[in-house]
Formats: sequence, C-alpha cells, structure tokens
Amino acid sequence: MSRLNPHFTEFADSGGPRGPAPEPGGATPLQRKYRQLIGGHWCDPEGNEWFDTINPANGEAWALIPRGSAADADRAVAAARATFESGSWRTMTATARGELLRRVATFLEDHIETLAAIESRDNGKRLVDVLAQLRYLPKYFHYYAGLADKIEGSVIPNDVPGVFNYTRHEPLGVVVAITPWNSPLMLAAWKLAPALAAGNTVVLKPSEHASASTLELARLMEQAGLPAGVLNVVTGFGAGVGASLVAHPDVAKVTFTGSEASGQQIAAAAAKGLKRVTLELGGKSPQLVFDDADMDTAVNGVLAGIFMGLGQSCIAGSRLLVQDTIHDRFVQRLVEGMQGVRIGDPFDASTQLGPMANQPQHEKVLAFIAQARREGAQCVLGGQAVHPANCGAGWYVEPTIFTEVRPAMQLYREEVFGPVLAVTRFRDEEEAVRMANDTRFGLAAGVWTQDMARSVRLSERIAAGTVYVNTYRGVSTLSPVGGYKHSGYGRENGIDAIKEFLQVKSVWIGLTPVPDAFPKDRG
Ligand code: NAI
Ligand code: MG
Repeated sequence: MSRLNPHFTEFADSGGPRGPAPEPGGATPLQRKYRQLIGGHWCDPEGNEWFDTINPANGEAWALIPRGSAADADRAVAAARATFESGSWRTMTATARGELLRRVATFLEDHIETLAAIESRDNGKRLVDVLAQLRYLPKYFHYYAGLADKIEGSVIPNDVPGVFNYTRHEPLGVVVAITPWNSPLMLAAWKLAPALAAGNTVVLKPSEHASASTLELARLMEQAGLPAGVLNVVTGFGAGVGASLVAHPDVAKVTFTGSEASGQQIAAAAAKGLKRVTLELGGKSPQLVFDDADMDTAVNGVLAGIFMGLGQSCIAGSRLLVQDTIHDRFVQRLVEGMQGVRIGDPFDASTQLGPMANQPQHEKVLAFIAQARREGAQCVLGGQAVHPANCGAGWYVEPTIFTEVRPAMQLYREEVFGPVLAVTRFRDEEEAVRMANDTRFGLAAGVWTQDMARSVRLSERIAAGTVYVNTYRGVSTLSPVGGYKHSGYGRENGIDAIKEFLQVKSVWIGLTPVPDAFPKDRG
C-alpha cells in the first residue's frame, strides 16, 4: 500500500527523534512516518499499514500516515471514554479546565510557523494564507477557555410547591470530530475548543488527504499539558476508521465538516445510535451584485470570494448573480482582475494561486468545467489545467469564469469546491432573491449594494446561515457559522456553540415531607 521510503524519520512521537522542519519549496528530503495518539501514547496502527500523503504542489509523497482501522477506533474511543469516566477532566474545576486550555492556546502561539509549513505542504494552500489563518488559531482556544467557567444553570421558579429545582449543563461524553482537508487545523479548532471547554473528551479524525498538521497539533497540545486521553487522534479513510468511529456505541456526539454526501451517511449512521450530530457541509453560495454597488469593492469581494484558496472553501461565493444593467461591464472587470495572475508553488511568496489540494479534487474541477462547456455555458476566463515551471506533477488549474449559466445547469446547482465562478444575470431584486434561494444549499450569501434598506430586506429574505453585505469571507471565533437546508445543522463559533457539546439536567430537591399517596383505609 505505501511506497516506503527507507529514509523516513519517526515523527509525532513524544519518545522518538524529531524530523526536521520542512524547508519551504522544493523537494522534501526525508519522508516522515507518523503515529496516532491514543490515551496519551503515540501508537502504530493495529493493522500495521501506512499510506502516503502527497504534497499537491509537486505531486510527491512526503509522509506516511497510519491507516487506522476499526480496531484503532475502538482503542481511541475506549481511551476517551475511560478518561471521561475517570473524572480527571470532567470534575476538574471549570476554571482549571479553562486555564489549561488557555495554556494550550498560549503554547500554540509559539508554533504557528511550523504548523503552517506542514499544513501548506499537505494541502497546497499558500503558505501566507495558512499562516494568516493559523495565527488566529489560538484565539479559538482562548475564547472557549474563557467560556469554560461561565456555563451556568438556572434556578427554576417551579410551579410545583415544595421543591428546589435547578439545571446543570453537563458534558456529553466522548465526542468524535471529523474534519476535511481544506483548512484542517482551523476546522479542528472550531470543534476541539468548545468540546474540550465543555468537559468532553474527543477522538479527532482528520482527512486522509491532509492529516499531518492535525497530528502535529495534538503533539503540541499534549506538550502544553493537556492530560492523556482527553484528545485522541486516529487517521485513515472515511469509509474505514471514520465510519467505525461514527458507529461506535460509546460515542455521544459526532461533529463533522465535509461533503454533503458524507454528511448524509454520517447522520444516518449516527441516527442508529441516537447520537447527536453537528454537520457543516457544502454550499453553492450566491453573490448578488446590484447596479448601485460600489464597483471596486464588489469586484474585489467577488474575486476573493471564489478564487482565494481556489474555491476550496465551504463558503466560496461560487454563484455570481449580477444585475443585467451592469452584467457585461462587471464580468469584464472580473476578467481583467485575474489577468496575469501568478500560479505556482504555494511556498513561493510571489505566488498568487497555488495548486488544488489533491488529485481527486483536480479531476473533479476539470470534469465540472467540461460539463459546463457541454451544457452551453460561455467560458470567459481560464478553463484549463496548467503546469507551472518547477512544480513537477502538481495539480494546478486556471481560475475559471463561466457566463450564461442557467439554473438547469450542473454548474448552477452543484458544489465544485474549485476556482470556477458561475455567472447568471437577474433583472430586479425579486428575481435576485428567487435565484439566490434556488438551491438546496444555504451556507452563505453575499450582497453588494449601497441601498441600506435593500441590504436589510435581502439579509432577511436569503435563506443562508451567513449573509455578508459589502464584505465576504469573514470568520471569527465570536460569530456563529453554520448551514440552512442541505448545508447542515448546528452552529460553530460564538457563545452558543458550546451548548452543542452540553446536555441539560434538571435537578429537583424536595423541601417538604412527601405525603402518603396510598393512605391505609381508616374506615
Ligand atoms: P468528505 O466529506 O468525504 O471527507 C471529509 C471527512 O469525512 C474526511 O475526514 C473523511 O475521511 C471523512 N468521512 C468521509 N466519509 C465518512 C463516513 N462515511 N464516515 C465517517 N467519516 C467519513 O470529503 P472529500 O472526499 O475529502 O471531498 C469531497 C468533496 O467534499 C469536495 O469536492 C467538496 O465538494 C466537499 N468538501 C466540503 C468541505 C466543506 O468545508 N464543507 C470540505 C472538504 C470537502
Ligand atoms: Mg496531502
């Protein structure tokens, strides 16, 4: 299964020698061999199998990732459950738990460059973009660390006389967190920070396409003092170890980010065990540009919304709806804006667009482009795979814009998760709203207008978990994200996200003697 490089170094192993930090760009001299973190130990997979993880910038394998199996899922859940039940985490004061998470956050601040280099190497996102994203990473832990001891129950003014009744918000138990490859650490933090602050223990499974940075994060969190068994990481494929985790009877909750299809499978499997589920799935997020919009701002926002990260973002603004009065001029501005864009090595500071994150994704994008052509959409920008110099067999594709995209076309309906913008015209606000909502997804939407009343009307009428007006792509630990319709359910980030990892208990205490319900007959 794996092309074992004899020069591998042991890594992600608190006991073994550390490999060198990856050097920016170029080939990777040493292949790393990772292990899984289970109950505080760095373990080989039970099946003794590893698989290659690929650097999408040049198509080369650079590390070996354990191929976890059902046996590894069992071990990890058992460790998480034992840790939860032993109480060392759960019954630690909430303040102490918050302090520990704050210590983790502060510790991470000093290791962001290392994490970013590994993540960029594994998923091809530009190093500068990963760095920007990960410099913010500790904030998720700080935010939820602060919430840990502000989880308050209430005293119920119960209408039943003679009782004292209060509520407690208790952790669920073992939480399984399953993450995708586009932003592995950010999306892991969205799940870990609230789940841990609430007092749960976690088994985290990163994507098979980009697992390395997650293993590194776990190592750092362990070094920062997170107790053994609180966070466990297993790696491998969705249909293997992923499905085993979801089906495991000792798991209380699954929190997942990824594709709609996998989300449906996970929700169905979790339903058998009546597990709680949070799903953050795909989108076909519309960007509505009205003729009264500030043109420069709208052009910049729309281009960044689809092409930053090559559209490999759940909130990518992939469907541009533009008022017919400005359609041609606006499309022209978009095309000009992307002319001469520099495509290449994500470690090169002058690169503006890197590779697709993996080969299946590259193939999927090219198939979408071919289908859009067959269905009669007009390609006005890009539309080809590219092979930048010095990038080996990396998976690159041009930023692509199609106009005359009609609602019946695949490109209007399905998530590409790539740098492909579908442009459709609308006549008036009514039609714009109808088109914006003409999708089974509902993750995000962008509205570009200078008419304040219209912006408020549209923010109410568009069915999406996030509506941006004259801005796009913002993400904050303070602000809730999540989907309407097929984009999922539950919310991440913000003050309420911690409730997704808690359950409410109502405690009744009798204050008066209990009367005899079955008095003896005194007749
Ligand atoms: P995926 O949804 O299959 O994988 C995401 C994670 O779920 C991975 O860790 C995977 O191992 C796991 N997984 C998959 N099936 C599972 C199952 N039945 N039980 C448990 N775990 C399971 O996504 P994939 O194949 O990597 O990408 C395919 C498409 O998904 C992309 O083309 C894109 O359209 C979409 N996607 C959406 C993302 C988002 O942020 N909403 C992120 C990544 C991909
Ligand atoms: Mg990779």
